[in-house]
Amino acid sequence: MPEDVIPVIRTDIPHSARIWNYWMGGKDNFEIDRIAGDAGTQVDPDIETMAVQSRQFLVRAVRHLAAEAGIRQFLDIGTGLPTMQNTHEVAQSVAPESKIVYVDNDPMVLTHARALLTNTTPEGVTTYIDSDYHEPEQIIADARNVLNFTQPIGVMFMGVLGHARTYDDLRRIVSTVMDAVPSGSYLTMWDGTIDSQAYVDLCEGYAKTGGVPYVPRPQEEIRAVFDGLELVSPGFVSITQWWADEDDSELSEARPISAYGAVARKP
Ligand SMILES: C[S@@+](CC[C@H](N)C(=O)[O-])C[C@H]1O[C@@H](n2cnc3c(N)ncnc32)[C@H](O)[C@@H]1O
Repeated sequence: MPEDVIPVIRTDIPHSARIWNYWMGGKDNFEIDRIAGDAGTQVDPDIETMAVQSRQFLVRAVRHLAAEAGIRQFLDIGTGLPTMQNTHEVAQSVAPESKIVYVDNDPMVLTHARALLTNTTPEGVTTYIDSDYHEPEQIIADARNVLNFTQPIGVMFMGVLGHARTYDDLRRIVSTVMDAVPSGSYLTMWDGTIDSQAYVDLCEGYAKTGGVPYVPRPQEEIRAVFDGLELVSPGFVSITQWWADEDDSELSEARPISAYGAVARKP
């Protein structure tokens, strides 16, 4: 979308990016989102924990990719509203020259991205693509203007793929992107699973509000998205259990939640 176009922001229906922002403790949401968010918390008291813990997982994963795996390019698809410790801030704090391309299709995310998702370092690059992930070929074409697809890229789908229209679409979206990146690239992905009936009920209730439905899936279906990739230790786990630094004591204290994911390397 050109810079001078003002996107239409619907305040009469709740939106997942804004509800997620509310659950994470952010301020970028409307009353309709807070009503939907509070209704969701009544149904699934764990949902705020999932939102907060998902950001902690993102921070640990990006820090690992930047500090241990040497990744300097990130493609974060389904960015969400900027909150605390966004991908570019974490990556550029480790490696100031890191390049980050954010992708989302929500107009409010777009306006905030223009204002807030900007470089934290003079050497770094932070850009934003307004695009629907159901058209991954377009995302790759646009990302090529910024990222070098002959060098490893950290691809991220963080709690976003439940919005895919079908499971086949979900698999096609991820595999199209992973096919386009070179060996040594990484997929970091998590999603909500059907292990918690409260979370399933929450998603069913949300679908009735008019927002784009979010579909929780069985663990095996989420796990299968990593087929053909090499899982980084500790593997495919509840995101509260993903901790690449084995000596960190928080790992043993974290309670598993019905949000599963992994970090995996393309061989
Ligand atoms: C639950 S939020 C997660 C945000 C972020 N990844 C995080 O970890 O906090 C889901 C995000 O996916 C975005 N999204 C939903 N459907 C999308 C689509 N078809 N294409 C691109 N982004 C989409 C929403 O706008 C929203 O920002």
